[in-house]
Amino acid sequence: MSAQRESWSTRSGFILAAIGSAVGLGNIWRFPYVSYENGGGAFIIPYLIALATAGFPLLFLDYTIGQKYRGAPPTAYGRMKKSAEFVGWWQVLVCSVIGIYYASVLSWAGQYTIYAFNQAWGGDAESFFYHQYLQRGSGLDFTIVPSLFIMLSAVWAIVLFIMYGGIRKGVEIANKIFIPLLVVMFLVMVIQAVRLPGAAEGLNALFTPNWSMMKDPKVWLAAYGHVFFSMSIGFGAMVTYASYLKRNANLTGSGLVVGFANSSFEILAGLGIFSVLGFMAVASGKPVSEVVSGGIGLAFVAFPKIISTMGDAGPIIGVLFFTSLFVAGLTSMASIIQVPISAVEDKFGWSHKKAVTVIGGISAAISILLFSTKTALTFVDVIDHFANNIGVVFGAILSIIWVTWLNRGLLDRLIRHINSISSFKLGAGWVFVLTIVTPISLIAALFLSLKSLLTKGYGDYDLMTQVIFGWGMVVFFAIGGMILTKLKGHVSHDELKGDYHE
Ligand code: PHE
Repeated sequence: MSAQRESWSTRSGFILAAIGSAVGLGNIWRFPYVSYENGGGAFIIPYLIALATAGFPLLFLDYTIGQKYRGAPPTAYGRMKKSAEFVGWWQVLVCSVIGIYYASVLSWAGQYTIYAFNQAWGGDAESFFYHQYLQRGSGLDFTIVPSLFIMLSAVWAIVLFIMYGGIRKGVEIANKIFIPLLVVMFLVMVIQAVRLPGAAEGLNALFTPNWSMMKDPKVWLAAYGHVFFSMSIGFGAMVTYASYLKRNANLTGSGLVVGFANSSFEILAGLGIFSVLGFMAVASGKPVSEVVSGGIGLAFVAFPKIISTMGDAGPIIGVLFFTSLFVAGLTSMASIIQVPISAVEDKFGWSHKKAVTVIGGISAAISILLFSTKTALTFVDVIDHFANNIGVVFGAILSIIWVTWLNRGLLDRLIRHINSISSFKLGAGWVFVLTIVTPISLIAALFLSLKSLLTKGYGDYDLMTQVIFGWGMVVFFAIGGMILTKLKGHVSHDELKGDYHE
C-alpha cells in the first residue's frame, strides 16, 4: 500500500487552493464578455439559475466524491462503482488537454505583463497582437515563434516547480502567496477603473438587461458552460483537491465559501472591465458596443488599446491587470495539471516525482510544440470550444448518471456522509436537483452544442482543423479513457477499500 496520502495542512489551505482553482482566466476575461454578449443585466438570471441547478450541486458532489473516496477521479469513481472508473479517466483526459492550452493563454498574460510597462504594442494593439506577437499564419502553420516558445517554456517551468513541491509544500504555499496578492492587486485595479471618467457608461452597457435574449437557448448554454468552467466543476479538479482533505472536513461550508468567492470575483471583474470600456467609449466618442470585443480579443486587444489612451494611469492599470490575469491563471493551472498527476499516482502507484516528471514533461512538450507555433490562436480557440462544450459537459453527464441513475441508494449514503461532517445540511432539494434538473439541463445543453457543431461547424475554421483537433480530441477522450481503465493498476479497487470508510 502506498504511504499515507498527503493532506492540506489547514482548512484555509484547502479553501484558498480551491478558490485559486476556481478564480482564473475564466473570471477575468471570460465572464465580462460572456455576460455582455448574452443579455447584459438579464444574463444574471440564467447565471444564477445555472449556479443553483448545476454549479453548487455539482461542486458539493465533486467535493464529496473526492473526500469520501480519497482519490483522483479514476480511483475515486472506481471505488464508488467499479464500472465508473472510465468516467474518471474521461475527466482526466479533458483536464490534460485543457492544461495544454491554458498554459498558452497564461504565457500571453505573462508576456503582456512585461509589455504593459512600456506599452510595447504601440499605436495598433490589434495588429500587434495578431501579427507581431502571435504571428498568426494562414491554415495550419507549424513554424515556431521564438518569443512564444520562450515564455511558454518559462510558464511550464514555474508550474512544474510548484507541482514538485506536492500538495502542502507546492500548491498550498503557492496559493497562500498568490491569492491574497491577487485580491489586493485586483481591488486596486477595479477601484482605479470605476473612478475613470465614462465608467458609468460602461457599467450601464454591462447591466442594462436585454430580457428578450432569455428566450434564446444559446444564452442558457452560455450560462451553464460558463458556470462549469468558472467553478472548475466536471473536470475532476475539485474531486482531486478534495481527495487531500481530512476525514472531518466541512464540505458544504467550504463549497459555499469557494462558490461565493468565485462569483464575487467575476462580478468585480465585470465592474472593472466595463468601467474601462466605458472610459474608452466616452474618450473616443463611440458607443460601448463598438469598443467591446469578444473573447481573447478583449484582454489582449481592447485592453492594451485602452491602456494606451490612459496617460499616467495606463501603465499602473495595465501592469495590475495583466499580473492579476497571470496570477489567477497560474493557480488554476496548478489545479488542472494536478488532476492527471494524482490520477497516475493513485492508479499506478507512481512516486510524486515520477508523476510530475513524466506527466508534466509530456504535457509541457505537447503544449510547447503546438502553442509556440503560428497556429497557436486557432488551436486555443478550437480546442477550448470542443473540450468545454463537449468534453466537460459529457463528463459531467456521465458522472451524474453513474451516481444518481445507475446507483440507487448511493446518493442517500453520500448525503449522510456530507451531513455528518458539514455545517450546511443538504436534503431532498439537493437530491431532486441532482437526479432530475441537472442531468436534464446538461443533456439539453449537450444536444444543442452537438447540433450546432454538426450542422454549422465551429467558427470559420477549415474542416480538417475541426476534425483533427476538435472531433479527434473527443475520440481521444473516449478511446484513451477506455485503455486507461483497462490497464491494470498497482492494487485492485477491493484491496484499496480499507483506505476509506463506507
Ligand atoms: N476555473 C478556472 C478559470 O476560471 C479554469 C479551470 C477549469 C480550472 C478547469 C480548473 C479546472 O479560469
